[in-house]
Amino acid sequence: MTRPASVGEALRAATERLRAGGSRSPRLDAELLLATALGVDRAELFRAPERVLTCGEERRFDSYVVRRQAREPVAYIRGRRAFRTIELEVTPAVLIPRPETETLVDVALEALAAAPAGSDAAGGAPAPSPYEPWALDVGTGSGCIALALAAENPFVHLVATDVSAAAVEVARRNAARLGLGGRVDICRGDLLDDLPPRTRFDLIVSNPPYIPTAEHRALEPNVRDYEPRLALYGGKDGLDVYRRLIPAAAGRLRPCGVLAVEVGAGQAAAVRALFAAAGAFAPTRERTDLAGIPRVVFARLSPRHAGG
Ligand SMILES: C[S@@+](CC[C@H](N)C(=O)[O-])C[C@H]1O[C@@H](n2cnc3c(N)ncnc32)[C@H](O)[C@@H]1O
Repeated sequence: MTRPASVGEALRAATERLRAGGSRSPRLDAELLLATALGVDRAELFRAPERVLTCGEERRFDSYVVRRQAREPVAYIRGRRAFRTIELEVTPAVLIPRPETETLVDVALEALAAAPAGSDAAGGAPAPSPYEPWALDVGTGSGCIALALAAENPFVHLVATDVSAAAVEVARRNAARLGLGGRVDICRGDLLDDLPPRTRFDLIVSNPPYIPTAEHRALEPNVRDYEPRLALYGGKDGLDVYRRLIPAAAGRLRPCGVLAVEVGAGQAAAVRALFAAAGAFAPTRERTDLAGIPRVVFARLSPRHAGG
């Protein structure tokens, strides 16, 4: 019979198994999985590296390592993922929030801070003070963008939509757990088609599916085999959703409202052209992510289209 392992020994052995299994971050993966198996935060592993695992903890940790060796993403094994200031539940029904999407949240927060005082989303009522802007997140997935905006801007109200009923359930649970359900209304819908007809927004954001379908085979197995297809693929050139979303969004923005979308590497020019083709926006701008890749394309509704 082998002696029970300490935290330090379990980490070293799992790191080697994960390295051999092809993980690019075997030590970090092992730490996150062991912390989850023990029900502690990661820092606790360093405080007590000599702590001995119980048989149940060893079994649980081993099952997580086996799943990771099969390339299942760590976030799905743990059932959660940090995004900006919040932690989100994630299941295989939703895309795992990516660091590059935080750039879209930066652009959105700046747009909200600059939102001109207007009337409420239903139209007509005088603006309260301070102004409470309305934003729409299309394709909300886990709710990461909408909930990060609500967590970081105490005045914004949001509607968040997704065509996936399972994603809507996850996003609603995240909103409730974070105590943000009162300002974030999450509903099932196909892009903007199912919103009440007269609703208008100061800001529309979206991180739509944008991977060209033919790139399926080239994706990492942890993405290709585990994340929802509906969240990944945007048709032959990856731009199908932008073609519908951009003109539809123009009709749902308030005067000077902003549309900001995340784009895939190499797609910014094509998406800027779609903004221009809609004929409703001021000149587009773009923002690069931390890797220097143009990641967000955004523009204000042109003054000529105010009220459109
Ligand atoms: C790339 S994921 C983004 C998820 C999340 N916003 C994020 O940034 O992590 C795209 C999301 O759009 C949703 N989606 C795909 N087609 C849609 C459509 N026609 N209408 C609404 N949502 C759609 C998918 O279900 C998925 O949740």
